[in-house]
Amino acid sequence: MKLTPAQITEFEEQGYLFLPNLFSPEEAALLTGELPGIFAQQREEVIREKGSEAPRSAFYVQTWNPVFELVARHPRLVEPGIQLLGSDKLYMHQFKINAKAAFDGAVWQWHQDYATWYSDDDMPTPRAMNIALFLAEANEFNGPLMFIPKSHREGRLAAGHDVTTTSYPLWTTDNETIARLVDEGGIVAPKGPPGSVLLFHGNLVHASGSNLTPWSRWILYLSLNRCDNAIRRFKRPTWIANQDFTPIEMLPDDCLGEYERRRRTAAE
Ligand code: SIN
Ligand code: MN
Repeated sequence: MKLTPAQITEFEEQGYLFLPNLFSPEEAALLTGELPGIFAQQREEVIREKGSEAPRSAFYVQTWNPVFELVARHPRLVEPGIQLLGSDKLYMHQFKINAKAAFDGAVWQWHQDYATWYSDDDMPTPRAMNIALFLAEANEFNGPLMFIPKSHREGRLAAGHDVTTTSYPLWTTDNETIARLVDEGGIVAPKGPPGSVLLFHGNLVHASGSNLTPWSRWILYLSLNRCDNAIRRFKRPTWIANQDFTPIEMLPDDCLGEYERRRRTAAE
């Protein structure tokens, strides 16, 4: 799936692009059907919220779930990355499903992803990005992603290492900087049904609030990086900061439909 020149311009100006309903309800249902089993697993790649059993994130799922193995190579997710990053050789720097569980989902502090990729992983440049796929509706109540439009133009901002607020250490942006950036750019929170896709720049400042609602806000993130921009420090485990720089080979557009048809035939 190719982005139009107007969509590419919008991404470059705003730092993000929202594509509602990019995946069909049937495709989204195939993915959400896998989630209870994924979050129930007791393994190091499934991390819990601080002081709770609620799932926070499931990492590296493309290596241990056959449906997400397909999603990690899906052309509707990978091809926009190829266009926006300007290289057809991309690898998966990180792959995670954030649960933001009903009632228990905790915050993600204001941050740029590149601050962490730079400080922890020694990624040479910010030529990496996120492709987010909604696996549940994101609405104004259940902790949607918040962006400060155009903040990617600031480059990498100073960041502090927050290892206490949540169960996941993160390099975060200070409140004074956030206040200045919001004064200039405001805040947006794209909302939409499962199957919607949000693309955002590695330097776009973002956050999300806690989820006090009965509605979990599941989002899958593909963090794509150019193979010629591979990380140089390996202090984080490969399931958080991938050390396998093999270029992603895309699958056909209907790979999820094909999987579902085969599964049905096998069950008959
Ligand atoms: C992130 O910034 O990595 C996650 C934010 C969220 O899922 O709300
Ligand atoms: Mn982030």
